[in-house]
Amino acid sequence: MSQIITLTLRNLKKIGLEHSIPNITEENAEFLKKLIGEKNPQHILEIGTANGYSTLQFASVLPDSADITTIEYAWNMHNFAVENFRNCKLKNIHAIWWDAKAVVPALANEFFDLVYIDAMKKEYLTYLLAILPKCTPDALIIIDDVEKFADKMPDLYAYLDANRISYSIEKTDIDDSIMIIQRSDIRT
Ligand SMILES: C[S@@+](CC[C@H](N)C(=O)[O-])C[C@H]1O[C@@H](n2cnc3c(N)ncnc32)[C@H](O)[C@@H]1O
Repeated sequence: MSQIITLTLRNLKKIGLEHSIPNITEENAEFLKKLIGEKNPQHILEIGTANGYSTLQFASVLPDSADITTIEYAWNMHNFAVENFRNCKLKNIHAIWWDAKAVVPALANEFFDLVYIDAMKKEYLTYLLAILPKCTPDALIIIDDVEKFADKMPDLYAYLDANRISYSIEKTDIDDSIMIIQRSDIRT
């Protein structure tokens, strides 16, 4: 990892703690980076950029030829994240400001082989349905905070159960767990 990314991540973590920005934990980041290393995705989609901490963690293990599209609704967060990506001289991050529910369906000719969802918990099913047509057949879909906030996403669990879609849940840190779904297990 370049020194500027290491320093920026350290700074963002500090700012996140000071301002109650719910950045992923370091343990979660390590788990996801290992997954990215194994999967070797070429196009990552992230819903919920915040200050760019998780995006930068992912970028730190990606080759320049791969890219991340990250979407954030809050203007100030988006701007701050863009500033951080620029400072780190990363050209393979496309940060989009707006509501992911509107942005994702409008992404033309883009197909993602790894999707990471970490935004408004009660909207998770909407994001999932929106990203399906934008995934490669072998895509991995990762959904954060699925245990602590399970009560905010009953429709997501109901959809998975009703459609007999298998998923695994990984306890990535003391805080919470992530859900991993294979796109190929969803028949729509
Ligand atoms: C948990 S934080 C993301 C943390 C970030 N992934 C990290 O670990 O550094 C969730 C973010 O999603 C954003 N968000 C919420 N609803 C959204 C939506 N519909 N579209 C895009 N972003 C949204 C919030 O503004 C917030 O910054």
